[in-house]
Amino acid sequence: MKLRVGVVFGGRSGEHEVSLSSAASVMRALDRKKYQIIPIGIDKRGRWRVGRAPSGNAPVDPAAVLREGEPLTLIPQPVATSGKQNSRLKVDVLLPVLHGTFGEDGCMQGLFELTGIPYAGSGVAGSAAAMDKILMKRLFAAAGLPGVAFRQVLRGDWEARPRAVERSLRESLSFPMFVKPANLGSSVGISKARNAAELGPALREAARYDSRIIVEQGVDAREIECAVLGNERPQASLPGEVLSANEFYDYAAKYIDNRSHFQAPAALPARVRRRIQQLAIQAFQAVDAAGLARVDFFLERGTGNIYINEINTLPGFTPISGYPKMWQASGLSYGKLLDRVIELALERSRERGRNSYEWAAR
Ligand SMILES: Nc1ncnc2c1ncn2[C@@H]1O[C@H](COP(=O)(O)OP(=O)(O)O)[C@@H](O)[C@H]1O
Ligand SMILES: [Mg+2]
Repeated sequence: MKLRVGVVFGGRSGEHEVSLSSAASVMRALDRKKYQIIPIGIDKRGRWRVGRAPSGNAPVDPAAVLREGEPLTLIPQPVATSGKQNSRLKVDVLLPVLHGTFGEDGCMQGLFELTGIPYAGSGVAGSAAAMDKILMKRLFAAAGLPGVAFRQVLRGDWEARPRAVERSLRESLSFPMFVKPANLGSSVGISKARNAAELGPALREAARYDSRIIVEQGVDAREIECAVLGNERPQASLPGEVLSANEFYDYAAKYIDNRSHFQAPAALPARVRRRIQQLAIQAFQAVDAAGLARVDFFLERGTGNIYINEINTLPGFTPISGYPKMWQASGLSYGKLLDRVIELALERSRERGRNSYEWAAR
């Protein structure tokens, strides 16, 4: 019997297209001798569609599943108790290849929990904590991990007293500052404010996307990333490096102009490499991540200081994405990496299955 893997892609997020491209390569690479692929697409309006399981080695086109798939409703009840209601969806494990809002932030993971179907990656709390840049940085700080200085700004406060808020930022941080919506990815809504005149417009831009804004001390740094894989005893890959063509790794540099380059492994002294690997594992544990995550660092030019920038619990998964490239550089192929991510999902589900949810006399 093949393991039935539901590959979930698309979704109501700015990263819909990135997800389709990650999912196409994931479905190409999953070993068809071991797995039956069930493609599950979510369109930009949030409607679910399930495609036919491909026969043999036939490729799956995610966009076609969104156009032609059967409507699918995932009932938030364990399949075993919901009769025929989840019957369209006979899967053994769900593999979310989603990014951003509703996919990576704990919402989808909450639905998966309710269905009782094992799923790959982090759970509700880890996903939500990693998606919220303010919560994430507070958890890192509580674990004693190094990060750049930052302040939280509430949109309402800034709108009510812009001068006072901006003055207080100028007093506690120096330029350049990075201004970001707390809850978004792909550099959407992020600006670099080089001076006082640029701070207001940067805050206005971030305020379009979230009521909570994070303002960070800017650093002049190399951008080093490290891939983490595992549950309770996670392992770190060799780090890689983003060589961005633009002034910072913004949306265009990530997805549009194709001029950025990811190098794995990064050229680093052994001591720095080991420190980054150790911090990556600690960051993974600090937010209670599971399965897989990519941890991004700043290696400051001049000082050599290492700062953790962020953790991504559902990193990009095309063959040229950083996450699989770092594992490839560490000796784990793309296909074997997927095997491992699926194994970890089943392992975590078994582990959680041991938890009792009600008190019982012993
Ligand atoms: N504090 C900072 N100092 C220097 N560059 C930064 C800083 N914060 C963000 N950047 C630049 O902006 C990019 C996107 O910011 P990041 O926080 O990683 O957002 P996202 O979650 O959208 O990837 C980073 O990859 C980096 O190039
Ligand atoms: Mg980033």
